[in-house]
Amino acid sequence: MAQSQVTLAPVQLGPIAVPTPVVLSPMAGVTNWPFRVLCEEYGPDGLYVAEMVTARALVAKNPKAFRLCRFAPSERVRSLQLYGVDPIIMEKATRMVVEGGMADHIDLNFGCPVPKVTRRGGGSALPWKLDLFKELLNRVVSVCSSANIPVTAKIRVGIDADHTTFLEAGHIAQEEGCAAVALHARTTAEYYGGHSDWDRIGQLVEELDIPVLGNGDIWSAEDALAMVEQTGCAGVEIGRGCQGRPWLFRDIANAFAGSSKRVEPTLGQVGQIVSRHAQLLTEFYDGDEQMAVHDMRKHVAWYLKGFPVGGGTRRAFMECESLADLDQQIALLPQDAPYPESIAAKPRGRVRYAKKVKLPQGWLDSRETTHDEREALFGDDPMDASY
Ligand SMILES: Cc1cc2nc3c(=O)[nH]c(=O)nc-3n(C[C@H](O)[C@H](O)[C@H](O)COP(=O)(O)O)c2cc1C
Repeated sequence: MAQSQVTLAPVQLGPIAVPTPVVLSPMAGVTNWPFRVLCEEYGPDGLYVAEMVTARALVAKNPKAFRLCRFAPSERVRSLQLYGVDPIIMEKATRMVVEGGMADHIDLNFGCPVPKVTRRGGGSALPWKLDLFKELLNRVVSVCSSANIPVTAKIRVGIDADHTTFLEAGHIAQEEGCAAVALHARTTAEYYGGHSDWDRIGQLVEELDIPVLGNGDIWSAEDALAMVEQTGCAGVEIGRGCQGRPWLFRDIANAFAGSSKRVEPTLGQVGQIVSRHAQLLTEFYDGDEQMAVHDMRKHVAWYLKGFPVGGGTRRAFMECESLADLDQQIALLPQDAPYPESIAAKPRGRVRYAKKVKLPQGWLDSRETTHDEREALFGDDPMDASY
């Protein structure tokens, strides 16, 4: 393979230096501290964001929300993502995080396309309402700036092709003092289907002075190089591509350092990572092995993707109830099976289009929220009880 000429300069987020701006994209149910620790070991100079935490759940001191805010001592930057619709609740949650010294960086979720979120005006639906978006950012950034904690915003292209929001949202984020913007280059309507439109990332890079992190469809180190080359983005954010492949962060760091060296573990080596991941998850679940092993099911499916492992063995993994069961299955795997290079860099995880975008009634009629809309939005949110 030819040596790459594409490089990434360090990115500065307030007081935090990110020497290699390769970022683990927040993923609910995936990017808890055990997975982040594994990823960071392969790329110590990147940034690893926790999964989204609902502001209202934090304010209500929901113990499950607090569990998502835990970090391992080894984590270099404690990077938390908050989700919320009500600017006042977001401000309160931010104050808790800041005053409790709970994080070093706060990312805000304006990208979630899930119907139960967008029908409440949250996630990727929110930037459509310019007043709400601006107020929310303003309140969060004001609280954070007193503690010198950088805030970043993660956005999508818009709601659909006729209702794009990313350029305005990027400008507002910049004006309100965000340290960077991450753009997942799909609309809500596109959900996770097709390929993200990297041209949109390039467009946002042209518009903004703050760093733009490009996100969407990086499945290999080569994809990361291509995104930076095509768009000029300051950094890349990796979601589904690292599911079952925490070593992708080393591949990408190598690629930006001009090296063609890639991590290609045998199945035996992957088994050791699976075992360690399960042990760490057991700690995450306060010693509850069964919860950890059940949570590992999706990870195991990703880790084994492409390896010559039959349906019976895969099912046996899904039936494990303890770490011992899991280790027993791992020991039975053909340890020398080589890394399935051909399948490794292919799409994994969610790849579907949305059936229909769900929004609050009349959401698209105006770019500003009405009094009645706000009243309806800021009532009890079923999302808050979803942990
Ligand atoms: C299982 C899953 C959970 C996700 N959870 C979050 C989340 O909590 N917060 C967020 O901003 N994005 C979330 N995302 C979106 C990803 O961070 C990322 O933007 C998206 O997957 C596109 O990047 P990719 O093509 O590299 O996967 C999630 C995606 C997946 C697949």
